[in-house]
Amino acid sequence: MIHFDEQTQTFHLKNSKISYLLAIEENNYLAHLYFGKAIKHYSGGYQYPRTDRSFSPNAPTSTDRLLSLDTLPMEYPGHGFGDFREPAYNIKLPNGSRINDFRYDSHEIQQGKPKLEGLPALYTESESEAETLVIDLKDPITGLKLKLFYSIYEEYAAVIRSVQLVNETSETVEINQLASQSLDFPNRKLELIHLNGTWGRERQLTREEVQTGIKILDSKRGSSSHQQNPFVALVEPHTTEFQGEAYGFNLVYSGNHETTIEKDPFDQTRLVMGINSFNFSWQLEQDARFQTPEVVMVYSDKGLNELSHTYHDLYNQRLVRGKHRLQERPTLINNWEATYFDFNEEKIMNIVDEAKKLGIEMFVLDDGWFGNREDDYTSLGDWVETEGKLACGLEKLAKNIKNEGMKFGIWFEPEMISKDSDLFRAHPDWALGVPGHGRSLSRSQYVLDFSREDVRDNIYQQMKAIFDRVPIDYVKWDMNRNMTEVYSVLLAADQQGEVAHRYMLGFYEFLEKLTTEYPDILFESCSGGGGRFDAGLLYYMPQTWTSDNTDAVARLKIQYGTSMVYPISSMGAHVSAVPNHQTGRNTSLETRGNAAMAGVFGYELDLTQLTAEEKDEIRDQAKFYKKHRQLFQYGTFYRLESPFEGNDTAWMFVSKDQSEAMVFYFRVLAEAAHPLVTLKLAGLDEEAIYCMDEREMGGDELMNLGFYMDSELHGDYVTQRFYLQKV
Ligand code: DGJ
Repeated sequence: MIHFDEQTQTFHLKNSKISYLLAIEENNYLAHLYFGKAIKHYSGGYQYPRTDRSFSPNAPTSTDRLLSLDTLPMEYPGHGFGDFREPAYNIKLPNGSRINDFRYDSHEIQQGKPKLEGLPALYTESESEAETLVIDLKDPITGLKLKLFYSIYEEYAAVIRSVQLVNETSETVEINQLASQSLDFPNRKLELIHLNGTWGRERQLTREEVQTGIKILDSKRGSSSHQQNPFVALVEPHTTEFQGEAYGFNLVYSGNHETTIEKDPFDQTRLVMGINSFNFSWQLEQDARFQTPEVVMVYSDKGLNELSHTYHDLYNQRLVRGKHRLQERPTLINNWEATYFDFNEEKIMNIVDEAKKLGIEMFVLDDGWFGNREDDYTSLGDWVETEGKLACGLEKLAKNIKNEGMKFGIWFEPEMISKDSDLFRAHPDWALGVPGHGRSLSRSQYVLDFSREDVRDNIYQQMKAIFDRVPIDYVKWDMNRNMTEVYSVLLAADQQGEVAHRYMLGFYEFLEKLTTEYPDILFESCSGGGGRFDAGLLYYMPQTWTSDNTDAVARLKIQYGTSMVYPISSMGAHVSAVPNHQTGRNTSLETRGNAAMAGVFGYELDLTQLTAEEKDEIRDQAKFYKKHRQLFQYGTFYRLESPFEGNDTAWMFVSKDQSEAMVFYFRVLAEAAHPLVTLKLAGLDEEAIYCMDEREMGGDELMNLGFYMDSELHGDYVTQRFYLQKV
C-alpha cells in the first residue's frame, strides 16, 4: 500500500479507492502532491511549477528564485522562513527563536498501525490490513525532530495522520502549536461544510464557499462542544449527497480543537487541524515526546453519502472497541424526562413494569440517586446513594429490575463537583481554578481537575464501590458544563498552558482503566446532550446521547448533521412526551418513533401516563425496532432529502447484502395544494426486484424513477415508512 520511488523521491500511499502522494522536494522540504481517487500508475512528473513570485521569499540556503515555501504545497508547514500561510506548528526554542526549519531526514514503512500513547485512535485487527509511513523531519541546526505518521487501510478510502515531536536537543523547548495535520489543495474552487450549533441544536450543517482569507472553526470550551464539532469537509461546488468530490477531516479528540482554512491569493487552500493552539503551551523536556491526536481524512468521489459510509464503517469496525462493538444495542427507557429529580422506588418500578410489558429491554436511572441530589445545585462528587430515596436501596432496585428480565443502567457525572458537596468542602483545591480568583459556576457546578491523579483516583474508587455492588449493564457518563479558570494548582507557572490537554489525557486514562475493568458495561457518553459527540469518545464509549432536544422535528436536523460522520449505532435517540419539553411542539407518536429509529432507540417519558392506544403503539414500535435494529444500527444509511434544504426529509437504510431496506419520509409543515414529491431511493441492487407494500418494483426503477409520495398526506409533522425486501 505504501511505496517510495527513489528516482522521483515520491511516496505513494494507495489502495483500490484512494491515492495520497507526497514528495521530497529540493532542499529536502516535504511537499504535498495529491489526495484523491486512486491512481494506478504515477509517472512521477507532477512537480509544482517553478515561478518567481514577488514577495515570496526563497527557501533558506537556496538561491533558486523560482521556488518559495510561500507557494509550494507543503505537508507540514512552519512559519518564519518563507511560508506566510497558516502554519501547522509553533515551537519556541531556549534562545527565544521560533524558527524551526524541518527537512526530510529519513522514513520507515511499517506493517499495521502503531498505537497512540494515551490517546484514542483507530486500530487494526491484523497487521496486514494497514500500513504506516513514518517520515522523520529534522531541523539540522537544533536537532529537533518531527515524526509524521500516515496510515492507510487496505479497505477504506481514508488516510489517518498524526504527528510526534521528539526533543533530541539538550534543553527544554516550548510547544505553542502542534497540529495533527495540514493539507494543501492547489488551485481548487472549494466549499466548506461544518457542523455547528449550541445546546439543544447540535451539529447543524453549514455549507459556504471557501473565500480568500482565513477562517477558524474551533472550541475553547475544554470539550469538543455543542458549538463546533471537530469535523469539516471540503467539497466541490457541485458536490451533492450522491456526486462530486468530498474530503472529510475528523479529529479523534474530545477537548479544545482548531481547524483553520486559508485560501491564498493564488487560489490555493490550506486546511490545518489539531488541538487548539489558543492558550496552549507544553514544556517538552530533553528526550521527551509529544504525540498529537490523529485526524481521519476520508475521500469520496461520489458525494457526501459515500464519505459518511466510509466514516461509519471505519468507526464501527476500527474505532469502537470491546464487547459491544457491532452488537445490537438494547432499547431503553430513561426516567429523566419522566420524573426529573422527583422519583422514588414506587414511581421507578411502575415505569419499569410498564416498560417490560411494552417490550423495552433496559431501564436507565438518570440523575438524582446520590448525595442530596434533589435538584441540580448539589452533590456532584458524592457518589453515594441518597439514603431512603429508593426505599429498597440501589442494589436491590437494580436486582429487582434484572429479575424482571430487564437490564439496568445508571447515570454519573464523574468529572464534576458541586459547590455544595462533601467532596468540595473537603477538597476545594480539586476543582479547576486560579488561586485568589473566584471560580465561575455553571449549572451550579465546577469542573474537577482531571489532570490530577489523586482526583481521578478518588472518583474512580467511588464509582468502583457502586460498580462492584450494583449489577450495572449500562452507564450514561454526563458532563454538564464547559471549562473556565483552566488552572491546576499542582503544575508550575510555565505549565499552565498544558492543563486543558493534561485534563484530556487524565480523562482518557480514567476511561481506559474503567472500561478495561468493567468490559461488560455499555457506556454512553453525554454532555448536556451532544456536547461531546466526537470520535475520541467513541473509542471508549460506543454510544453518545445525541441531544437533550428530543423534539422529533428538531431531531431531523440534528441526526442528519450528526450522520455526516458518526454512525447510526452511536446515536442515542429517544421518543419523549408531548408537548415536547424543549420546544413545546406536539408531534404524533408515529413521527416521534420514526425519527428516533435513526439511532439507538429508546423512550424518555412516563409510560404510566399513557392511554391504552398509546401503549399499543409503543409496543408495536419497540417490536418493529427490535426486529429491524440490525438494519438500523449497522445497515448503510443514505440521506435522501435534507431538512436543511426544505420541508421534506428522507433517509433510508440498506442492509449490507442489499436484501432489504427501510425508507423514512418526514414532512414538517403542511401546505395546501402541496407540490408532488417523488422519492428516488439509493443503494439497492439494480438487478433485483424488491417488494414494497405488496408491489414488486425493480431496484433500478426505485432508484431512477422512484415513486410518488402520497399526495393525500395532510397535516404538520407527518411521516411515512416503507419496508423493501428483495424478491
Ligand atoms: C443532561 C443530559 O443530557 C440529560 O439527558 C440528563 O441526563 C441531565 N443532564 C441530568 O442532569
